[in-house]
Amino acid sequence: MGEPHGIGIVGIGVISGQYFDTLAAHPDVRIVATADLDPARAAAGAQRIPGCRSLTVEELLADPAVDTVLNLTVPAAHAPVALAALRHGKNVYGEKPLAPTVAPARQILDAAGSAWVGCAPDTALGAGVQTARAAVDAGEIGRPVAAVASWTAPGHEAWHPHPDFYYREGGGPLFDMGPYYLTALFHLLGPVARVSGASSRSRDVRQIATGPRAGEEIPVEVDTHVTGILEHVSGAVSTVTFSFDGVATQAAPIEMHGEEATLALPDPNFFDGEVRLRRPGADNWDSLPVRAGYENAGRGIGLIDFVRDGGARAHGDIALHVLEIMTALTDSAREGRRIDLMTTATRPPIVPRTSRADWGAAH
Ligand SMILES: NC(=O)c1ccc[n+]([C@@H]2O[C@H](COP(=O)([O-])OP(=O)(O)OC[C@H]3O[C@@H](n4cnc5c(N)ncnc54)[C@H](O)[C@@H]3O)[C@@H](O)[C@H]2O)c1
Repeated sequence: MGEPHGIGIVGIGVISGQYFDTLAAHPDVRIVATADLDPARAAAGAQRIPGCRSLTVEELLADPAVDTVLNLTVPAAHAPVALAALRHGKNVYGEKPLAPTVAPARQILDAAGSAWVGCAPDTALGAGVQTARAAVDAGEIGRPVAAVASWTAPGHEAWHPHPDFYYREGGGPLFDMGPYYLTALFHLLGPVARVSGASSRSRDVRQIATGPRAGEEIPVEVDTHVTGILEHVSGAVSTVTFSFDGVATQAAPIEMHGEEATLALPDPNFFDGEVRLRRPGADNWDSLPVRAGYENAGRGIGLIDFVRDGGARAHGDIALHVLEIMTALTDSAREGRRIDLMTTATRPPIVPRTSRADWGAAH
């Protein structure tokens, strides 16, 4: 048995808790250091792991015990932190989006050399999306024709104590929730060739509802209702909606229509959930048994997938393609034209069905 893979986490905010849950007791990895612009947050993170050190960002990047930098900072800091980590010869796995715009995201992948660049979301590696993919790949819906993806909520200022970044470049419902849905659509239908978008903004300020800044108004710098059409290379067409401007929705998170059946998927912001299939003439939906994917996984499974056997399915190439889909939707909405994409990515191998015990979760 070699040494566990050393992980240094930069950015100990709200989402870091979920990563600690997945990684803290996993036998193949060890969280060796934490860092944050706010030293108190770094220290609070380090306290969760015996022997973990609270460092400055520079110290963490230079630390020989760190093999991979886990970048959980806000979107505007994703590229600077990732590039600095790569300069220190580390692998990088980061939260989505890879960067707020395509140019710095491309710079990250260009700078990688022999290091691995991975990026969230990794929910598409869970049993939900992977079971749906297994059905699609087995030809059970016939030739895939179309997909419809939809996410609507009132806005994260309702629950997040520091929601500013959701309303800046790199935020908005498209950049925040789009990665889950678009990554799932990529796994199901493959890369996208061109997109068209239309978007709107219901108001120019939002009010923080919770935490020490409750009542404070923050500016809205991005569109908060975004719709689009994705033309996949395969010929399938996806229709998508992401909105901070609705109260609630009953729309299915993702439906996929094939020539022989329709699939209904669970929420791709989560790893598991029921996949249902409906055939022509049937009165009901059939629930599909779990066939593929990491079961009961949590955020960070994309990093575990890489560390355990070089799976590397949550690859930065996919995140770059998803990012270009999002920036092109935004440009298309602003400019009123259909946009051909420059990037593409290869669908990674399906995740074989892997129980929680098998992927090495702590007991
Ligand atoms: N909150 C969620 O539910 C959620 C869910 C999924 C993904 N994410 C993603 O996770 C990322 C972080 O979100 P969050 O909600 O944890 O944000 P947060 O604001 O709670 O935490 C971000 C942390 O990063 C630190 N930070 C910012 N810039 C830094 C830098 N240059 N160097 C070091 N530390 C820096 C901040 O001080 C803060 O502690 C975002 O990309 C977000 O899209 C968040």
